[in-house]
Amino acid sequence: MSGPCSFVIFGATGDLATTKLLPSLYALDADGRLDEPLRFVALTRRDIDTPAWRDRLLALLERQCGDGLDRAAAQRFAARFDVVRGSHREPELYERLKAQLSPSSFPGACENVVFYLSIPPGDFRTVVAKLDEAGLSSTRGRHRIVVEKPFGSDLESAHRLNEELHRHFDEEQIYRIDHFLGKETVQNLLVFRFANAVVEPLWNRHYVDHVQITVAESEGIGSRAGYFDRAGTLRDMLQNHLLQILAVVAMEPPARLDGDDLRNEKQKALRSVRPIEPQDVDGVALRGQYAAGVANREHVPAYVDEEGVPDDSATETYAAMKLHIDNWRWRGVPFYLRSGKRLAERRSFVALRFRDAPHQLFGDTPCARTDPNWLILAIQPEDTIRFELQARAPGFDMTPRLLRIDTGAAGERERRLGAYATLLLDVIEGDRTLFIRFDEVESAWRIVEPVLQRWRGATGSPLHRYAAGSWGPERADALFERPHQAWRNAP
Ligand code: BG6
Repeated sequence: MSGPCSFVIFGATGDLATTKLLPSLYALDADGRLDEPLRFVALTRRDIDTPAWRDRLLALLERQCGDGLDRAAAQRFAARFDVVRGSHREPELYERLKAQLSPSSFPGACENVVFYLSIPPGDFRTVVAKLDEAGLSSTRGRHRIVVEKPFGSDLESAHRLNEELHRHFDEEQIYRIDHFLGKETVQNLLVFRFANAVVEPLWNRHYVDHVQITVAESEGIGSRAGYFDRAGTLRDMLQNHLLQILAVVAMEPPARLDGDDLRNEKQKALRSVRPIEPQDVDGVALRGQYAAGVANREHVPAYVDEEGVPDDSATETYAAMKLHIDNWRWRGVPFYLRSGKRLAERRSFVALRFRDAPHQLFGDTPCARTDPNWLILAIQPEDTIRFELQARAPGFDMTPRLLRIDTGAAGERERRLGAYATLLLDVIEGDRTLFIRFDEVESAWRIVEPVLQRWRGATGSPLHRYAAGSWGPERADALFERPHQAWRNAP
């Protein structure tokens, strides 16, 4: 980190800040990764002053970390915070913020500021304009702005948002974050693919039968109805997290792993996704919504009975899609994507199923029933990469035995730091490699746009109900092209 830095959190008492940002910043600080002098400014509408905020932050960290909390580190972390009160829609807040960032309040801090927009996406444009009006978007120092996903709510609004951002900030100052790119396995995938001479030759249409990307959550929408009911799973998860994973799995080897090379390759992969024709949407995409059921061993209500959700909401809490990538590497290999709330487990993984051996040698022995080879990139709760091969069990018979080669999971320390921590450190250090460029956002919206159109309102594609605690609508099986293909639920 070069020079003193101020890290300003818009929406510091909101859901994202509470569940992800603050615990990750604390974990970085406790791990000794945040050099002095760095201080945080929490912006909130709530009637709370700095001492009360610090107490509240300590209580939050105690709840989140339990016995793992390092109290001295937590106190040091809390002491780095100042609060600026007010609504981010009002100009007075920016005057107060400016005063807080002035050199008299913190020497040099105004030269190097991170603005983190942890606020409803509908407010992004207002905030960037007001930061600029207040003279806080300067390129002289290192003022950066972090924008959460979803970036826009469709292709057109994404363009408008991007234009608005560029009116006030240069591209080098903009960090479009997708925290799935900070997940251990997603980063490990780069090494696994490109550091192993035996892996890359298998990574194509000659060997891979199909790819599945699953991001399953057992939780419902919590207190986020206001945001989620307008977004739905397609905008909340598929357009960003799942398509970013797809891009990393499908991309060509980049020339280098930094700068724009990685992003160029991801963008090329996204651009190669075959466009979905409007009349084909129902054959390649499916939406669902959870009904009441048992999840996490508790009876839970239907989505429409969650607090803040309209009774007649047609918002999808589950989305699945089949995509094809029209390039030399992947032509003919379907990529199946699915994500949902209130599913049977919290489990995210990529599964590559390899083709069957071209000739079955073991016709009338138990080996005739061998399973295919799979490569499993488990993202969470475990974060391992595992190859499944077939071998013969020791003994007199030709009995098959599944052999698993596993990279092993990350240690407790890495897990505590988590995906956000990796990316927050990159923002502070000014490294944009793992942040999304606008052309990637644009390609991702182009891919899902026909589906968004068809799913608009209750009159479009059927909305399949599924019991909370299940693996989603049974109809999702109909997306598969070939009889041997089926969702893999256990990684
Ligand atoms: C967020 C979505 O981006 O990712 C949430 O808005 C989702 O709806 C979350 O729950 C999942 O992230 P993680 O890291 O908890 O799996």
